[in-house]
Amino acid sequence: MKRAAAQAALESVAPGMRLGLGTGSTAAHFVDLLGARVRDGLDVVGVPTSERTRLQAEGLGIPLSTLDETPELDLTVDGADEFDASLRLIKGGGGALLREKIVAAASKRMFVIADATKEVGTLGAFPLPVEVDRFGARSTRLHIERAARGLGLIGAISQRMSAPDAPYLTDGGHYIFDCAFGAIDAPEALAERLSTIPGVVDHGLFIGLATAIFIAGATGVRILGD
Ligand code: A5P
Repeated sequence: MKRAAAQAALESVAPGMRLGLGTGSTAAHFVDLLGARVRDGLDVVGVPTSERTRLQAEGLGIPLSTLDETPELDLTVDGADEFDASLRLIKGGGGALLREKIVAAASKRMFVIADATKEVGTLGAFPLPVEVDRFGARSTRLHIERAARGLGLIGAISQRMSAPDAPYLTDGGHYIFDCAFGAIDAPEALAERLSTIPGVVDHGLFIGLATAIFIAGATGVRILGD
């Protein structure tokens, strides 16, 4: 199903496009299929959202660029951990949320590719990843807790780990706190509060960025949005 969603999104890719390349198992299908089209002569340039995706795309011979060289993109194709009917997303399960958001914001359009299990009525069943600077991370965590409590959100906040004694580090060298708040009734309000906390580098709420969601289910691919 992930591959079917990726295939459907690929149909919108045209020669000459500047593409943001997402991260995660669904986005990896898109990069793989794009690689095959490039091998057949399609002329595009990609900006990867993670080192993982950069390595995959490089291996497939997809011409790559950076946002410094190519600051404006035509289309980003990426996965999501959750999405709702208003095209609001939770991302960051794979730890690449910061670069994913920067790349999506640099793109005219963002297509999300997902299987139907990612669709929710209310965001929040998937713990919200919040990327924080390492400096003062325990204080930042208290601020996150307070900000969430102010919106009636109470839930376990756990630091993501790579090994029992090794905190997970993002490509940018930051920590991630996974915040199991449960149903987030006001994602915009939470996004705004989290963004004002010093030490919060970014959070996994993507609001107003996705322009279409390709949802693969048992009976085919449905498109939400444009
Ligand atoms: C990476 O940081 C994430 O935002 C992924 O895009 C998201 O977790 C979806 O991943 P899967 O396609 O592997 O479910």
